[in-house]
Amino acid sequence: MLMDQHGRQVSYLRLAVTDRCNLRCTYCMPEKMQFMDRASLLSYEEITRLVQLLAAEGVQRVRITGGEPFLRKDLLSLLEILSAHCEVSVTTNGVLTAPFIPALHRLGIRKINLSLDTLHPDRFQQITRRDQLNAVTHTLQTLLEYDMEVKINMVVMNEVNTDELTAFTALTRHQAISVRFIEEMPFNGQGNGFSGIQWHYRRILDHIGREFDLHKLPDPPGSTSLSYHIPGHTGNIGVIPAFSRTFCGSCNRLRITPTGGMKTCLYGHDTLNVRDLMREGMPDDLLMHEIRSAVAGKYVNGFEAERANAGKVLESMSVIGG
Ligand code: GTP
Ligand code: 5AD
Ligand code: SF4
Repeated sequence: MLMDQHGRQVSYLRLAVTDRCNLRCTYCMPEKMQFMDRASLLSYEEITRLVQLLAAEGVQRVRITGGEPFLRKDLLSLLEILSAHCEVSVTTNGVLTAPFIPALHRLGIRKINLSLDTLHPDRFQQITRRDQLNAVTHTLQTLLEYDMEVKINMVVMNEVNTDELTAFTALTRHQAISVRFIEEMPFNGQGNGFSGIQWHYRRILDHIGREFDLHKLPDPPGSTSLSYHIPGHTGNIGVIPAFSRTFCGSCNRLRITPTGGMKTCLYGHDTLNVRDLMREGMPDDLLMHEIRSAVAGKYVNGFEAERANAGKVLESMSVIGG
């Protein structure tokens, strides 16, 4: 079992398989990105070894993130192998995803989180710097046809998309989706232009609550989301206080970056590089010892981690893995 010094068990791995992306969301990265050299990425063999070791230590779920995971060559073969060891879920921007949905379904992968911040094509272009809204909405419809458990991630940005909170909430009326409104975080790959948030999660809830009758739903332990049911709606909504960091007390997450950096907190620095240890030939028992020590040192919350990581908010979310 992987326990930290605050008595929390790590049971959820977030694994970023690439830092590359086919979108350029302004809250995530600048237009010009210097992506990692492919040889520096964890190989599928290295990822499999890690997941096997972590699964034996009580990690039950792996969420595959990026960058955009479907840009990694032959991702399905990795997903198939990992599915034999634990529950696998995927967070994707939906641009390339649709053709893979039947295969994901066959592998038993049901939990797909889709990033979508606007329903307007011109605004989509403004936010992501690419013209791909049609591809994403096609992915959404295909996911629903396959009865996938879909969560839409909408990053709430002041004076950019807050006029769409109602439209996104309305998506849950007839469709079995969960729409989660996320507080923006400083990981935009530039570290500048971020002066805190205007749309605190309570403001988001107040705003939606003026038009919809919100009933709190129970959330699973370790959840980042506060979820709400609206009478008569098929789906539900949630808010993710990603910047307010209200959920750290029950954090069950560990992150591995595309190049093998291990992060015990999203706001923290890489505490260990497991790729380097594996490439040096470290055997499993010593590797697990290193991972256990890193997990033990996990910060009490994201504020502590941020203090210890002073000045490092220059990173892009695509490197951290979301
Ligand atoms: P499930 O609970 O498995 O559905 O997914 P999730 O919400 O953990 O993952 P997803 O990839 O959909 O991320 C949704 C948002 O939550 C993103 O903006 C993440 O960066 C944010 N998030 C996930 N984990 C953490 C965390 O540990 N701390 C903070 N502050 N934000 C997080
Ligand atoms: N703030 C909040 N959420 C972000 N994401 C990416 N960058 C940020 C940010 N700066 C979200 C994406 C994706 C998820 C993994 O993280 O919308 O859905
Ligand atoms: Fe790509 Fe996701 Fe970053 Fe957007 S938020 S640029 S989709 S990695």
